[in-house]
Amino acid sequence: MRQRRAKNLEEKVEALASYQVENPQKFFGRWQEFFGNQNPIYLEIGCGKGQFALRQALAHPNRNYIAVEGQISVALRAMEKAALAEQQTGRRNLVIICAFVNDIGELFQEGELAGIYLNFSDPWPKDRHYKRRLTYRSRLMSYMKALMPEGFIEIKTDNDNLFAFTQEEADSCSFLPVACVADLYGDTASSGSTAVFLKEAIEITTEYEDKFRSQGLPIHYMRLEKK
Ligand SMILES: C[S@@+](CC[C@H](N)C(=O)[O-])C[C@H]1O[C@@H](n2cnc3c(N)ncnc32)[C@H](O)[C@@H]1O
Repeated sequence: MRQRRAKNLEEKVEALASYQVENPQKFFGRWQEFFGNQNPIYLEIGCGKGQFALRQALAHPNRNYIAVEGQISVALRAMEKAALAEQQTGRRNLVIICAFVNDIGELFQEGELAGIYLNFSDPWPKDRHYKRRLTYRSRLMSYMKALMPEGFIEIKTDNDNLFAFTQEEADSCSFLPVACVADLYGDTASSGSTAVFLKEAIEITTEYEDKFRSQGLPIHYMRLEKK
């Protein structure tokens, strides 16, 4: 039974193979060539089933999106969304990398990305696993390096500890958040550009975000920018 399920999965992935980037290292420094246009490139790490990436790709057909997901059965759902995006926009502006990415410096040249999204990243609650958290300082530094000037990192999480950890790690790298709120949907204090970032951040939600919101949990949000 399990073998049949695995075979079905393989066949489904194969059918959507053109939405998956195999050997993404090949495109280091050449991602615009890969997409065949000069549009800015946005990366989501840990995209899950791809709701957020799909909605971004539909809302911004003049942007390119790369969504990364390490679990193949979950990545398959994201690949289906990439196909849907193409059907609706008539262009391929969303592709999936199916891998657990550790060092994005192997995939993207300095300044190649316009923005990076980390949505509801695994919290890795055990102290000894802190380096696995996607907002560990050396990872934040490699994200910043891959960003173009004024590029951004946006983080959403329900997890108090991961949010506090992320603030400490950003601080240790001297990355000053341009927005940092504990309750994205309940915030009434922010104004100016911060309020604009928050408004935009709630326009496109993820699967986990919808689930946690329906449970009444606050969503934490942070935005860092490359100066
Ligand atoms: C908690 S889920 C959140 C999914 C989605 N972002 C959302 O908000 O609905 C985290 C996802 O990130 C994936 N993931 C964790 N670390 C990753 C990595 N280093 N590279 C790619 N995917 C990763 C996991 O497999 C999992 O599907």
